[in-house]
Amino acid sequence: MAVRDVLKMGDPRLLQPASPVDKFGTRDLEELLQDMRDTMHALNGAGLAAPQIGVGLQVVIFEVQRNPRYPDAEEVPYTELINPVLTPVGEAMEEGWEGCLSVPGMRGLVPRFQRLRYRGFDPKGNAIERDVTGFHSRVVQHECDHLMGILYPMRIRDLRNFGFTEVLFPDLEVMDE
Ligand code: NI
Repeated sequence: MAVRDVLKMGDPRLLQPASPVDKFGTRDLEELLQDMRDTMHALNGAGLAAPQIGVGLQVVIFEVQRNPRYPDAEEVPYTELINPVLTPVGEAMEEGWEGCLSVPGMRGLVPRFQRLRYRGFDPKGNAIERDVTGFHSRVVQHECDHLMGILYPMRIRDLRNFGFTEVLFPDLEVMDE
């Protein structure tokens, strides 16, 4: 069990494409996922990708728990997703505010596909396939971008919609991805 250091924007390792996992059910993979889970929870994140802790593998986790202070926030079940493949359903895009544990203290308005089908595997190698919308769709697109070396500021259409969280949302506690 370990909370790992999260790499910050500017570190070239965040810009490298990640490699697929080729062996499932291993102790190494379990330990990686445990560290990712501990790190995401310690930092109050909504998601984390392995490259953010310096591991260049196609592994992401994400979770949004119901919070009575944000009754509108959609719950997303805790998911460990390996070797993901994303397919947008339709062309509709939606802009929404995002943050990232690798870009601490900031928020940007990012367009994402509204509806998404994603496929991949759990740590034992069982197939996962889901059709999702809304914040679930957004968080998966954000995390899987990390596997291609893409950070959300690269997707902001108008950089006037990029700034410090405490200035943009002074009254809000928000999660990072
Ligand atoms: Ni992120």
